[in-house]
Amino acid sequence: MYAKKGVSMSGNSIGVLFKVTTWGESHGPAIGAVVEGCPAGIDIVEDDIQKVLDRRKPGMIASSSPRKEEDAVRILSGTFLGKTTGTPISLIIENKNVDSGAYEDIKDIFRPGHGDFTYFKKYGIRDYRGGGRASARETAARVAAGAIAGKVISPEGMEVVAYTKALGGIVISCDRISREDIAASHMMCPDPEATGAMEAKLEEARRSGDSLGGIVEIIVRGCPPGLGEPVFDKMDADLAKALMGIGAVKGVEIGAGFGVAEMTGSQANDPITPTGFLSNHAGGILAGITTGQDIIIRVACKPIASIAKVQKTIDVHGNPVEVSIKGRHDVAVIPRIVPVCEAMVSIVLADHLLRQKAII
Ligand SMILES: Cc1cc2nc3c(=O)[nH]c(=O)nc-3n(C[C@H](O)[C@H](O)[C@H](O)COP(=O)(O)O)c2cc1C
Repeated sequence: MYAKKGVSMSGNSIGVLFKVTTWGESHGPAIGAVVEGCPAGIDIVEDDIQKVLDRRKPGMIASSSPRKEEDAVRILSGTFLGKTTGTPISLIIENKNVDSGAYEDIKDIFRPGHGDFTYFKKYGIRDYRGGGRASARETAARVAAGAIAGKVISPEGMEVVAYTKALGGIVISCDRISREDIAASHMMCPDPEATGAMEAKLEEARRSGDSLGGIVEIIVRGCPPGLGEPVFDKMDADLAKALMGIGAVKGVEIGAGFGVAEMTGSQANDPITPTGFLSNHAGGILAGITTGQDIIIRVACKPIASIAKVQKTIDVHGNPVEVSIKGRHDVAVIPRIVPVCEAMVSIVLADHLLRQKAII
């Protein structure tokens, strides 16, 4: 269709002053990230990044991919004596548990719902092993970079907390969202009852060879007012772009989100008093600039594309075929996508914090 010899892949970087570039494929020797613009003098050692990375690992629950990766991160550059030096920070994570054999069967077939069709149409060649660059393996590099972003924003009092809000139609509404409750749940869901129901639902989907979608909510606490660069780099615009860039994310809502369409102005507006706002339908952002309230974001995740159920597709020559995916796959991107969302939001906040500091 459009594939031309020599088409290259751009779009591997995000950020203006705090800039993250990721590289690598699922079954290559390694994946990694380069973080540019990180201020000098920040305490960071591999273990700080490792702790964050361990939350994204496959194989943590029965419904996650059985691929067992150590996900051991190494810092190759940009730090000295446990502190950032202001130079590019290069991070590497080796791919050790690679089993490309399972992908031989689908090397000439496009999996419905995955990037096989579009990568092939665009580049005319695709690394079919484990999804190549379209694999969620790449998100480990984002999480590693996000851990560094976290070190930039946390001294300013900012905290990014993400959790599972819904999975396979089980939706929770929790008044108290704490890191401890989220950490105690295999589903990264602060509601213990819902956690059990979600696990059962995932197991049911796994047995039937199918997959499930869900919703992740991300809350930013302690964000100062004034971050965001109108008009094209509004905070909400940059957050939406960063989160939509994660595989399987099909929607991003801020504050009342799509709900505003059914509200009147008097319902949607957040009244302002001398002591602060009376509500937060705006989700902590007005005109692309943070208000100082919590930033509230929700992300809609589609069900995993690679399923065992038989589906219709075509091969690279356009012939109709049926496909049932074997390989090692998750049943839902939840809960593994939760730390990835935190990472992307932290990266955007770190970038905007540095941009604001550059102005004043
Ligand atoms: C944490 C995480 C884990 C994922 N695991 C899988 C998986 O095991 N199998 C799969 O087919 N897709 C998986 N995906 C989704 C694919 O990466 C994604 O659907 C694919 O790249 C196509 O992109 P799109 O869904 O954004 O259109 C995962 C995504 C994330 C964020």
